[in-house]
Amino acid sequence: MLYVNGNWVEEGEPSIQAEDRGYNFGDGIYEVARIYQGRLYQWEAHLARLFRSAREIRLDLPWNSAQLSEIAAQLMAKNGITSQDDAILYLQVSRGASPRQHDIPQSSEPVLTAFVRRKERPLEQLNNGISAKLVADIRWLRCDIKTLNLLGAVLVKEEAKDAGAADCILHRDGIVTECSASNFFAVKDGQLYTHPANNLILHGITRQTVIDLALKSGIPVQEEAFSIDFVKQADELFLTGTTSEITPITSVDGQPVGNGQVGHVVKKLQALFEENIR
Ligand code: PDD
Repeated sequence: MLYVNGNWVEEGEPSIQAEDRGYNFGDGIYEVARIYQGRLYQWEAHLARLFRSAREIRLDLPWNSAQLSEIAAQLMAKNGITSQDDAILYLQVSRGASPRQHDIPQSSEPVLTAFVRRKERPLEQLNNGISAKLVADIRWLRCDIKTLNLLGAVLVKEEAKDAGAADCILHRDGIVTECSASNFFAVKDGQLYTHPANNLILHGITRQTVIDLALKSGIPVQEEAFSIDFVKQADELFLTGTTSEITPITSVDGQPVGNGQVGHVVKKLQALFEENIR
């Protein structure tokens, strides 16, 4: 018998196995995809990133894109997601159960968990912006892998909340990376600046969408590292993510960004994004 999540269960019963590596080590990967009006948004990009994350952690996924798409479709159907619904799809793969030791087991069966939840768009934040606090980026050096290990992200967000801010802007040795669960952009003199997509940030799908939309509409984009001081002098700031879309940041460490109002570049990008999701 095993004690799992409040229950005494027999070995092998369908439940979280006590030695599931996702559970013991955070040894697994995940994706969060958006469903707008009953349709998955940027699904192919999420699948591509899931397969990349799997490769990077040396995990062979026993499902192909078509099978994962079928699971997603069934989940939406079984949960009655219709063209009236905005929702998220969460999908995680743990390396599976194996006697607890750090070495990657020769044979373990990856465990897939997926669910959908209805979720409204964050209109209040999109319209009015949020506050942020600069916080040291204490996460590991492979933030490009969308791993289940999110304790660093949990703790930095909590540090921001303790200071009364809605989210954190992370920095490593004075260089700004991203936010707790989103990518970060600064606007200066009509140009966008964001950290390069290397090992220090998640290669956000919304980030790439925003870069593409900006370039198409003639807004230059610099993917380069920049400092805390640059952030403090920026005209506008915003973060991007699957659930947060393009959220303006109107104050940092209690100081207003620009004139403290949502800026016109971010509004323009939000309008382009709005067209893109329809
Ligand atoms: N977060 N950076 C980090 C650290 C993230 O966790 C996320 C996504 C992003 C934005 O990526 P995308 O645009 O592909 O969603 C950037 C998800 C939504 C989450 O953990 O809930």
